[in-house]
Amino acid sequence: MSKIGLYYKNVSAEVVGDEHGISKSQFAELAQQVKPAIAEVNKQRKEGKIPYRDLPYNKEYLESVKQVAADIEGKFENFVVLGIGGSALGNIALQTALSPYMYNTDAAQRNGKPRLFVFDNVDPAQLSSFLDWIGDKLEKTVFNVISKSGRTAETASQFLTIRQLLTDKLGRHACRDHIIATTDANEGTMRKIADDAGYRTLVVPDGVGGRFSVFSPVGLLSAAVCGIDIDGLLEGAAQMDKKVSGEDMFTNPAAMNAAINWHYYNRGKPISVMFPYAYALKDFADWYRQLWAESLGKSVDLKGNEVFVGPTPVKALGTTDQHSQVQLYREGPNDKLFTFLQIEDFGKEITVGSTPNCAPELGYLAGAKMSKLINAEKMATEYALLHDKRPCLTVLFDRLDAVTAGQFIYLYEVTTSIAGELFGINTYDQPAVELGKEATFALMDREGYEKLAEKIRPVTKIDGDFLV
Ligand code: PA5
Repeated sequence: MSKIGLYYKNVSAEVVGDEHGISKSQFAELAQQVKPAIAEVNKQRKEGKIPYRDLPYNKEYLESVKQVAADIEGKFENFVVLGIGGSALGNIALQTALSPYMYNTDAAQRNGKPRLFVFDNVDPAQLSSFLDWIGDKLEKTVFNVISKSGRTAETASQFLTIRQLLTDKLGRHACRDHIIATTDANEGTMRKIADDAGYRTLVVPDGVGGRFSVFSPVGLLSAAVCGIDIDGLLEGAAQMDKKVSGEDMFTNPAAMNAAINWHYYNRGKPISVMFPYAYALKDFADWYRQLWAESLGKSVDLKGNEVFVGPTPVKALGTTDQHSQVQLYREGPNDKLFTFLQIEDFGKEITVGSTPNCAPELGYLAGAKMSKLINAEKMATEYALLHDKRPCLTVLFDRLDAVTAGQFIYLYEVTTSIAGELFGINTYDQPAVELGKEATFALMDREGYEKLAEKIRPVTKIDGDFLV
């Protein structure tokens, strides 16, 4: 059975010294401090307040996803997700992690499944390029619009564009066959539209925020359609669930992870760098960024006091960013906690080619396994950071498959819940996102937002005082 592990020895004072490391007594203190946070998260789960925790066991959602995936199997060459934030980042992360790199380009690697595109922006140049390409292939394309509310401007504008295109090109009833809506079970703009037009629908579960929704139909449909083992994914999440409820930090990886991150935040290291050493894991770092930032970046605590807390999540990619960020990471301010993601067995191997006679200095590479090189570079970078007293965690995947991906996602979701309790904030809201949304409505001349428009126009006016 494949598994992940959390390695935390390289944050200890023994490795990075007393000034930057965690001593035995500090670990013991942290273990006491995190206990009530774990208990509170367990209580919230029992009371049904954090339903994301039980998604790995929900057969109804799983069957509904499998049903829709089976219905469309073999009928479409392109599957397009329209969503943003929590309605897109998990889909992208799963696809990058669990489908081959050339999936969209090489039919053989796709094994009869449709190409996957995820549009999580409103960039007219990007979408135009796609629409120019899709041309006659529209008939073989299905769109999964994912929006709990249906009112998110980005997703709504893309949906309206596609709806119009389908109607113009394929006729009045085309939308019914070419759109699947994943939305609230009962309420909201998208539910209203979908019911009215007779679209196939899947449910965004009640009480599950976008960033905690990967194991719901939000994340599962595109994965299932692309041939990802969604049973394995949920199995992995359920396995991790067994490890993250216990109140002993030393046997609970989510508690350990949360406690270490919280400890360093309070000790002058407010930046948390996720540093995968595998291209396939790069979008997990993106997914993590949203999970961490929207959940933990808050101005008030649960008692209403102003606190302005939140670790800043940063993504990096090994080995690529060794040639971009590591100079700063080693010699810049010691204000970061690093979390490496490492894969032991890549499942594929490349043996490096032979060396020309004129370049004997490359001889050490000839015949070397590429997996040995990437993992050597990870260890070398970690060694260099530790040398400069920079604390490092590692999440080690013995291999990357649906089960370990499920374990990883669940580990980080529960880590976030426990960290939220340690920070004493509401992990599950995102009030700060609202003002920007409303200002967009105002600038787009939406009715009812005229007063706000007046207020913000002077601030946003470009006045010609540019330096260049
Ligand atoms: O995590 C979240 O809750 C957000 O990122 C939402 O997923 C995002 O704003 C999209 O919202 P909606 O699904 O309503 O379109």
